[in-house]
Amino acid sequence: MSLKGKKVGFIGSGNMGEALIKGLTVANVVPGEMIWASDVRGDRLKELGRTYGIQLASDNLQLVREADVVIMAVKPQIMTPVLREIASVFSRRKLMISLAAGVSTDTIRAALGREGRLIRVMPNTPALVLEGVTAIAKGDGLEPEDMEVAGEIFSAVGRVVVLDESLMDAVTGLSGSGPAYVAVVIESLADGGVKMGLDRLTAMTLATQTVLGAAKLLLETRLHPGALKDMVSSPGGTSIAGVAALEEGGIRTTFIKAVERATQRSKELGRGSAG
Ligand SMILES: NC(=O)c1ccc[n+]([C@@H]2O[C@H](COP(=O)([O-])OP(=O)(O)OC[C@H]3O[C@@H](n4cnc5c(N)ncnc54)[C@H](OP(=O)(O)O)[C@@H]3O)[C@@H](O)[C@H]2O)c1
Repeated sequence: MSLKGKKVGFIGSGNMGEALIKGLTVANVVPGEMIWASDVRGDRLKELGRTYGIQLASDNLQLVREADVVIMAVKPQIMTPVLREIASVFSRRKLMISLAAGVSTDTIRAALGREGRLIRVMPNTPALVLEGVTAIAKGDGLEPEDMEVAGEIFSAVGRVVVLDESLMDAVTGLSGSGPAYVAVVIESLADGGVKMGLDRLTAMTLATQTVLGAAKLLLETRLHPGALKDMVSSPGGTSIAGVAALEEGGIRTTFIKAVERATQRSKELGRGSAG
């Protein structure tokens, strides 16, 4: 357990910061007294202190001084000013993990004005209910156990994959933006149910639990999605009639294009051409 005895600090304690604090304390991966948090919103910080029994830093500088692992959980737009603010107290003795979408480790290093032990991650929104998936990319100059530390932290809010930083835009296009695609799928399925006479609430329950259940079945059995589709599609039956309608609408090409477009957009935003 590489996290044992390490103090983990969060700069920015909004949605993602809280999700991680919750995951780490509920699973007892890091006890509350070893977690530090800072935020410009003092009232929110106090509430997190009361709920999770964590330590509250008076500002970002105190947080960095206290923490062994500094997690950057502020919005991407304010990463550079915050990194400049903490640069004087950050050193190679501390590991920095950044959640900021589209902010490369090169940008972080430039803003800090020094080399550092940097790891970039891309979690997704289901981390808020401890069912996220986080891609972890190795930066330069890490200590041997740094990747393990990052893995332990993000496993507290779901699954973890390790990949090269050059693939982070693809991750943003798939799992980062994916909750929006799945939300559209669920809403559309429910609309279909309502069209066929179900009330909205029942249709939503059926659609949501079907997506959750199918995903869980695939994860737990490691079945290929095609095998699950074949399993439920009996000859001349209802499922194959529905699948044929999906294919008529070009469902596969549409999803592939969605991931491709979102990946391209992530690249554009990363280059600062948000336009
Ligand atoms: N949410 C997601 O699903 C998701 C997924 C992948 C990656 N991320 C990344 O995670 C990071 C955090 O996202 P989030 O959704 O948790 O954002 P958020 O809810 O807005 O949390 C950020 C927190 O930081 C505070 N803050 C602002 N300026 C600060 C400063 N100078 N020092 C300390 N704290 C400051 C904000 O306060 P104010 O609200 O007053 O500004 C807010 O409470 C982002 O970089 C995002 O790209 C998020």
